[in-house]
Amino acid sequence: MTIQQPTDLTHAAMLGLGVHRPERVVTNDEICEVLDSTDEWIQTRSGIRTRRFAGEGETLIGMSISAAEKALAAAGVEAAEVGCVIVATSTHPEHTPASAPQVATALGITAAAFDISAGCAGFCHALNLAASMVRSGAEKHVLVIGVEQLSRFMDPTDRGTAFIFADGAGAVVVGPSESAGIGPTAWGSDGSQAHVITQTPSCMGLRSHTDADHPVVQMEGTAVFRWAPFAMAEVAHEALRLAGVSVDELDAFIPHQANLRITQTLARNIKLPDTVAVATDVIDSGNTSAASVPLAMEAMLRQDEASAGDTALLIAFGAGLSYAGQVVTLPPLAR
Ligand SMILES: CC(C)(COP(=O)(O)OP(=O)(O)OC[C@H]1O[C@@H](n2cnc3c(N)ncnc32)[C@H](O)[C@@H]1OP(=O)(O)O)[C@@H](O)C(=O)NCCC(=O)NCCS
Repeated sequence: MTIQQPTDLTHAAMLGLGVHRPERVVTNDEICEVLDSTDEWIQTRSGIRTRRFAGEGETLIGMSISAAEKALAAAGVEAAEVGCVIVATSTHPEHTPASAPQVATALGITAAAFDISAGCAGFCHALNLAASMVRSGAEKHVLVIGVEQLSRFMDPTDRGTAFIFADGAGAVVVGPSESAGIGPTAWGSDGSQAHVITQTPSCMGLRSHTDADHPVVQMEGTAVFRWAPFAMAEVAHEALRLAGVSVDELDAFIPHQANLRITQTLARNIKLPDTVAVATDVIDSGNTSAASVPLAMEAMLRQDEASAGDTALLIAFGAGLSYAGQVVTLPPLAR
């Protein structure tokens, strides 16, 4: 007996991009009403001026649906044509059930739908899964969503995290294309540094904590700062090598929006020419973890810093520690 398998290998690309930016803009001064810090310190150390927090009625599932609807419209793909929905998130409030089936159902999709957790690198992981599915012929269109509601998982008095993290969602439709629009992914992990970014206490740990009703993100910021700009430079070179693209052939560099200083150091370490546009959405949006790469793509396209069809290097890194990067062709936005 022979098991039938699709053999029509094809190219994959991002066909459309959509985002949801929560309405509530939160300034550093508002953060400092509770946090022992200043606007000047936050801007100097992180580059962040404002971020957005989900307001009343804005949920992780609702933000995902909103971003996905725009991505489908930009791609000109009907919900019924989607063969799989992948939601990358670390802040869905329940371990079970996953968020993706509810997002899919709200969009009228009955296809496979599941969540993945790879911290701030989640979107670039999901993009690799989606591209692999499309290339292999397993699915024609895959909806990838990066979404976070980190404001629900923060201690507003924690000087190491309260000014950094924020909320939002970004989605892309991955589908077949005539040429490769998503390069091979350079990815990996380092579980020996699992303690560097955590949700504490763990869900089970809550049982023994009398003073906590939900986990909050904790981070050894200095350790992340020592690791990311150097380890990610190697990942950037590997992604470029795999794609056969040189650094000066790039139009845009869109790293995870962790911190402006990390982005600047990373750009220097990979010897990025001045001609390459660099994403700086962290200034307005803070660090939205798995949502940050698609949000940063959207900001560059909306502000005409880059155009659909341009060649960009994506790199994301975070809790795990986990990381992934790939060279991509930038998708169109819904107008
Ligand atoms: C979090 C981060 C901005 C802190 O900056 P830092 O320069 O490492 O700060 P440190 O923790 O070494 O503290 C430096 C000084 O600032 C003070 N400080 C720390 N947090 C502060 C805050 N929020 N406001 C004001 N002062 C603060 C410290 O008390 C210390 O003071 P001292 O020099 O008098 O002892 C930085 O480590 C960072 O950006 N890390 C990467 C985080 C990140 O991007 N994470 C995303 C992961 S995906």
